[in-house]
Amino acid sequence: MSRKVLLSGVKPTGAPHIGNYFGAMKQFVDLQKEHDGYVFIADYHALNFIQDKEEMKKNIIGILLDYLAIGLDPEKLTIFKQSDIFEHTELAWIFDTFTTMPYLERAHAYKDAKAKNKEINVGTFNYPMLMAADILLYGPDIVPVGQDQKQHVEYARDTAEKFNRIFGETFKLPEPMILKDVAIVLGTDGRKMSKSYNNTIPLFAEYEEIKKCVMSIVTDSSGGIPKNVYAIHKLFRPEDELKKIYAEKSGKYKELKELLIEDLEKFIAPLREKRKEFAKDIPKALKILKAGSEKAKIIASRKMEEVRDKIGVNV
Ligand code: ADP
Ligand code: TRP
Repeated sequence: MSRKVLLSGVKPTGAPHIGNYFGAMKQFVDLQKEHDGYVFIADYHALNFIQDKEEMKKNIIGILLDYLAIGLDPEKLTIFKQSDIFEHTELAWIFDTFTTMPYLERAHAYKDAKAKNKEINVGTFNYPMLMAADILLYGPDIVPVGQDQKQHVEYARDTAEKFNRIFGETFKLPEPMILKDVAIVLGTDGRKMSKSYNNTIPLFAEYEEIKKCVMSIVTDSSGGIPKNVYAIHKLFRPEDELKKIYAEKSGKYKELKELLIEDLEKFIAPLREKRKEFAKDIPKALKILKAGSEKAKIIASRKMEEVRDKIGVNV
């Protein structure tokens, strides 16, 4: 039996946080043994937000080191960079030609930006079509992501169905893989943890930074259990154990926060050290990325040949 295919990507927009890790990245690591995995750096998606050469370069290398530090193993899965595979942008264009404006206007990310009266660039409007291309080129069975990306994976499914209907069976329909308990990891203010809310705990934080983040967790004085502290803590200890501790230390917010700092440090310190090791040899990390892109290119260009054939541009 052939192995199932996994694919996902993260934008190089800065330091990842524990929400990114538990919501999505951990699944890449956990599933790499039993799947044919493709995990990529979504740099062309990030270009919507980062338009600065040095920052882009730094972030790309950053996420590559993050991937290696969490345990993605290039022997087991393919790590590549979106912009190395021209087929992604080419296929996104083809999808644009049969996708309607009202359909894309229903995308949450677009609607949110519009509601905030932001000036929206075409790349942001079109974001789901590039993401559909990212996914469909590799025919994955599962796409591990956090809840906020569910709609985007559904857009990829719809787009596959529409293409198949117009041009004939070509693309496999992907499934999002969203783990219920970590679908939306909460941040230090009780809202969804997100870089844009300034409420994160960085996955590779130094001890002092962990302390600062935890001390900033918003607590209310209504009950004995500080729910924003607990919501983060339950990622690091079994809940039966945690419930006992929180009952014993009811109302002692400072002690509970100190325990969370300890637990976070225990979890983060080895990751941080591994990342520092990988950072000592960036040319080696870049070689891994280059080799991954070469492998991905073979799959993507084969699929793209089929697409060109189906749409009739191969004469
Ligand atoms: P951010 O919202 O912090 O900018 P990204 O858009 O880079 O995060 O997301 C990378 C991956 O992490 C995606 O699969 C996304 O769904 C997931 N993710 C982001 N924030 C969370 C969260 N708070 N809880 C669970 N998953 C998350
Ligand atoms: N949009 C995703 C995010 O913001 C990143 C991404 C781009 C992605 N292309 C993808 C995720 C394909 C999964 C599959 O996190």
